[in-house]
Amino acid sequence: MATILLAGGAGYIGSHTAVALLNAGYDVVIADNFANSSPEAVRRVERITGKQVRLYEADCRDNARLAQIFRENSIDAVIHFAGLKAVGESVAYPVRYYRNNIDTTLSLLETMADAGVKRILFSSSATVYGEENPIPYLETMPRGVCTNPYGWTKAMMEQIFEDAAKADPSLSVVLLRYFNPIGAHPSGLIGEDPQGIPNNLMPYVTQVAIGKRECLTVFGNDYDTKDGTCGRDYIHVMDLAEGHLKAIGYILQHSGVEVFNLGTGTPVSVKELVETFEAVNGVQIRRIYGGRRAGDLPEYYANADKALAMLGWKTERSLADACRDAWNWQKQNPNGYRGVET
Ligand code: NAD
Ligand code: UD1
Repeated sequence: MATILLAGGAGYIGSHTAVALLNAGYDVVIADNFANSSPEAVRRVERITGKQVRLYEADCRDNARLAQIFRENSIDAVIHFAGLKAVGESVAYPVRYYRNNIDTTLSLLETMADAGVKRILFSSSATVYGEENPIPYLETMPRGVCTNPYGWTKAMMEQIFEDAAKADPSLSVVLLRYFNPIGAHPSGLIGEDPQGIPNNLMPYVTQVAIGKRECLTVFGNDYDTKDGTCGRDYIHVMDLAEGHLKAIGYILQHSGVEVFNLGTGTPVSVKELVETFEAVNGVQIRRIYGGRRAGDLPEYYANADKALAMLGWKTERSLADACRDAWNWQKQNPNGYRGVET
């Protein structure tokens, strides 16, 4: 079976993808500098699967370290998760975001070329559709104007991959545009572990549920949507992980560049998400309605037909499943991976 290098694989999406790959029989190597993660996540992946992961503490901007990883392992494909992802922080520290995110991509491409590794999946984002495209988003739409440096790093990295693949037709690239990943592995052993005050909705909700935050502020209830709150395409992280599994199967057989949306194809409002969380878990989420958050779009969601047609992938898990699994993870790990012996 093939060996897959997960750059940034100790993080939220990488750890769940590692579980899916290991369960399918792939060998997994992880390179992560733990800028936003913990080696404990990788140990938990090993516990869930009963399989071993080869873990390197490595900055993916360090070509010599990457070259060593490629030398010591026979890598068939890379999945590139390594990056900084906090939108607000990217506005405050744009240079840090451009430096980290673009350099990881360039270093991976350089060292892959030297090592003769020709296949890479990239964690892109629905944010690259910008503000102007109509919904639902389709892969054939042009990338739009991004609203923050984080989004621009994703758009720029997509362009870099497209140019690199044009120059080297033997390079195979799959750009995966994630919509809004939520939830956790049903074991509750791995999940999303935000540092400080969560920016994203689901971890904020789970922290209110457990009493770490007093009250959720719903950002705007005067949008032109079904209930006035914003609509998003929330995808269970295990469905997303299985999307990577299908994309790995695809890239091992095909060359060229392909773009896939990974989403459910259905928008869910903030109000619906919070009410589902309450109903499924039997907890109350204290909430107030506040003003709109700068940069938020009223509603966006995926057209996910291409992934179904070409990868045979679609989401299987419900919003209720994601709410249950997110709460299970939070309850079992009130402080995330912190405070755990590593
Ligand atoms: P995460 O922060 O949990 O995982 C990213 C991992 O990359 C972390 O483990 C971090 O330590 C590592 N990392 C960062 N810079 C590195 C470097 N220079 N060298 C080595 N490791 C480095 O985030 P995630 O939610 O798992 O996201 C994974 C990828 O998917 C990111 O590229 C993110 O931008 C993208 N994405 C995430 C979302 C989301 O909502 N979570 C949505 C769209 C796209
Ligand atoms: C955000 C990023 C996006 C990134 C994505 C990762 C912005 C503008 N966009 O998307 O680039 O790819 O995270 O998942 O930051 N909400 C509340 N109260 C809260 C938190 C959120 O009402 O405390 C609402 C937001 O207004 C939004 C929805 O919940 O309507 C989802 O928010 P969030 O989880 O931050 O994701 P996005 O804004 O869709």
